[in-house]
Amino acid sequence: MTVEARSAPAATRLNRSTTAELESTVERLLSQGVDLCRLGLGEPDTAVPEHVREAAIAAIRENFSQYTSTAGILPLRAAIADRLRADIGVSYDASEVIVSTGGKQAILNALAALVAEGDEVLIPVPYWVSFPEQVRFIGGVPVPVPTSAAAGYRVTAEDLERHITPRTRVLILNSPNNPSGAVHGSRDLEAIARVCARRGIWTISDEVYSTFVYTAEGHRSIASLPGMRERTVVVNALSKTFGMTGWRVGYSAAPAEVTKVMVTLQSHVTSNVNSIAQRAALAAVSGPQDWLAGVRRDYAARRDVLVDGVARVRGLEAPTPDGAFFLWVDASWWAGRDLRGRRISDAGDLAAALLEEARVAVGPGAGFGSARHLRLSFAAPLTEIREGLARMTALLGEAAPSR
Ligand SMILES: Cc1ncc(COP(=O)(O)O)c(C=O)c1O
Repeated sequence: MTVEARSAPAATRLNRSTTAELESTVERLLSQGVDLCRLGLGEPDTAVPEHVREAAIAAIRENFSQYTSTAGILPLRAAIADRLRADIGVSYDASEVIVSTGGKQAILNALAALVAEGDEVLIPVPYWVSFPEQVRFIGGVPVPVPTSAAAGYRVTAEDLERHITPRTRVLILNSPNNPSGAVHGSRDLEAIARVCARRGIWTISDEVYSTFVYTAEGHRSIASLPGMRERTVVVNALSKTFGMTGWRVGYSAAPAEVTKVMVTLQSHVTSNVNSIAQRAALAAVSGPQDWLAGVRRDYAARRDVLVDGVARVRGLEAPTPDGAFFLWVDASWWAGRDLRGRRISDAGDLAAALLEEARVAVGPGAGFGSARHLRLSFAAPLTEIREGLARMTALLGEAAPSR
C-alpha cells in the first residue's frame, strides 16, 4: 500500500463491493420487468419460520422498543452460548457473546480488536469480498493465501506457513467458504490450529454457512480444537441459517478480554441490534432446529443439479462443493475467445455476456480473488436453476462429451 493510500481517509481506501453491485443491477433489471434467472446471489430463499416471525410481532405489540445493552439482551446471548455449546462443542459465558448487525459487523469488530496498523491478516483465496476491504479499513494489510482446485480450495497449514511473517496477526478462516464451498474437516483444522498456536496467530472463524455442510463429518469449528478457544473469535449469523439476511442479526463469541474491546467499539458505532430483531433471534436460536436437516437435504439436491448442469456447459469446470450454496466455477477456457462477436478477456466479461445475452445473473469472481472464476449460487428454486442452466448452455454451448 502506498503512503498516499495509507494517509487517505479510511473509507476512500475501499473498493466497491462487487456483490452489492450485482444486487443493484439485478434489482434494476427486475424492476424493468426483465425475465432474469438469478444464480449469482448469496441469499437463501427459505421462509423465516412462523414462530420467529410471531416473536417479532409479539415484541412490537409489547412495545419492546427501547435501547438494549450494546451486546444484546441477556437471554439471547445466553441462548447463543447454549447453541454454540451444542453445535460446535465450545463453552462460552453469555458475557463472551455479542449480538451484532449481521456477521459482517462481528467480523469488523473482531478485526478492529485484534489488528494494529500495519499488521498482516492472512486471507485464503478465494475469499468473501468484504474480508480484504475490512482489513484495509482498519489499517491492516490483507495477505491473500492462494489455494488450489486440486486441494478443493481448502487452505493447508503449508499454504499458511509460506505467508507468515513477524507481522502476521490474524487468519480469517471461512469454513464453509464463500465462494468455493470448501469445508475444512477436523484433520485440516488440526494442522491449521498447530500453525496458529506455534506462530501466535489469532483466528477469526467465519462460520455463517455452518448449517450448510453436506459431508458425513459435518461442520467443525477451529475453536473446538485444543488451545484454540483462547485465540479464536467465532462469528456466525442468523442470516443464512434462518433465511433472515434482511433482519441483520449476527454474533461473535470470543475470550472475555477481546469481547470487551469489541463491545466498546460497537457501543460507539451502532449500539445494539434492533430490539425487535433480537426477540425474533431469541426464538430462532432457542427454538426447534430439527427442520434444518430438511433444508440441508434440499440444498444438497439443488447442488447436485447445478454441479451436473455446469459440467455439461462448454468451458466451465467446478468441483462439487462440500458446503455453503455456491459453485466456484473455473471459466479460464473462455479467456481470449469470442462469444457472439464479443471478446471475452476474463470471467467478468463472461458474466456480463451471460447477463446481457442469456439473462442469467452470475457473480464475477474478481471480487472474490480470481478473475478466472464465476460464482454460481444454488440458493434458488430448482426451476430457476434448471432454466438458468438451459440458458447458459444455449449461449455457451455444450461441453464436449470427453470433458
Ligand atoms: C462468508 C460470509 N461472511 C459473512 C457474511 C455476512 O453475513 P451477514 O449478512 O450476517 O452480515 C456473509 C454474507 O454474505 C458471508 O458470505
